[in-house]
Formats: sequence, structure tokens, C-alpha cells
Amino acid sequence: MNIKNNLILALDVGSESEAIDICEKVKESIDTIKIGYPLALAEGLEIIKKLKDKFGFKVICDFKVADIDATNEKICEETFKAGADAIICHGFVGPDSVQACLDVANKYEKELFLLTEMSHPGAKKFLQPAADEIAKMGIKMGITNYVAPATRLDRLQDIRNIVGEDAYIISPGVGKQGGDGKKTLEISNAIIVGRSIYEAENPKEACENLLK
Ligand code: C5P
Repeated sequence: MNIKNNLILALDVGSESEAIDICEKVKESIDTIKIGYPLALAEGLEIIKKLKDKFGFKVICDFKVADIDATNEKICEETFKAGADAIICHGFVGPDSVQACLDVANKYEKELFLLTEMSHPGAKKFLQPAADEIAKMGIKMGITNYVAPATRLDRLQDIRNIVGEDAYIISPGVGKQGGDGKKTLEISNAIIVGRSIYEAENPKEACENLLK
């Protein structure tokens, strides 16, 4: 995926009007947004097409898909049908569940991101011990896109070492969760930033400062 300025906006706001307001303010710096449950549950999946049509953005749906294969398939179908360019799935559910997501992404000629380790402190308890194996599974399955944390650069580097330089890694956790954008981009291909932009008094300036 080609992401302008290597910066993805995590648009975790609760309404279409807030989403449009933020997008208007940052549209010069950003061409890719990540939509998760907060906005999709508030406004429905139609919000994907609305934002794509209005701003020409690429949309990554962060639905952290983590069900049995048959259900994952249905979740991915609905998401790509609604216009998503990519979807994020969990890896801890194992290869059959992830393969179901990969098959649907391939069918729509869209992209799948495999989530290896989350960025919050609680991820250390269950997810971190499994993350290297999840990344190895992804490589074995031919997955080229990964999500790995900006909040723990040592772990981000470990994941990079496993998936290799050709893999595309996007990293959440910059700003509000404590991660450093510049250092993260020495390892990752793109950073995901939410609250530091959309909660800022001046989101446009927040974006520009990040890019500096
Ligand atoms: O507001 P903030 O910049 O912390 O937003 C980070 C975004 O990345 C949120 O949408 C969060 O759900 C998501 N995320 C994360 N850690 C992961 C995967 C996704 O923080 N491993």
C-alpha cells in the first residue's frame, strides 16, 4: 500500500460530522485513514464509501477480525463489499481463521494486514508471548502486511526481523500511547495516529508537526 507521508489517521470519532470535520482539516497531509468499531458502529459501513467519495482516501478497516474461519469470511465480505481497501485481522486465532480473511481479500484484490502484537500495556500478558509465532505464521501464509507496536521498539524490531525488509509494517501507538514517530519509522513503513490528531485543538497543525 502506498501511504502519503507514511501517516495513517486513526479516525476513532463517534459521528460522521466529526469524521468529515477532521478529514477536511488534515486532507492535505493524509490520504489513508483507519476506521474502527467506534465510527463503523456509530454510522454503519456506509461511512467507508462516504469518506472515500468525499476525500479520495484509502480506507483500512480495523475490525481486528478474530472469529472462526466461516465467520471471518462473512465479516471480510461485508467489509470489502462496503468499499474498504484493507482489513486488519488478528493472528492469535490461527491459520484457518486468517486464511479465510486472506482468501476474501484476494478475491476482491484488496489487502489484509495481520495484527501481531497490540500497542497497549495489556498486550504484554497474552499477545506478546505469541506475537513472534503469529508473524512467522503470516510469512508462511504469504502475508505481506503487518501491524506491530510503536510503543515497544524492541518488539517492533523483533517483528521486522521475522517478517523481513520486504514486508509492509504499520504501527499504532505514536503520540497518546507514548510512541515516537521518527524512531518508529526507522523500523516501520507507516505510523497510525489517532487522538494526537483528532483531539488536538488544531488537527491540521498537529499533523504538520508530526510530519516535521
Ligand atoms: O489514539 P491513538 O493514536 O492511540 O490510536 C491508535 C489506534 O490504533 C487506535 O485506533 C487503536 O485501536 C489502534 N491499534 C492499536 N494497537 C494495535 C492495533 C490497533 O493501538 N496493535
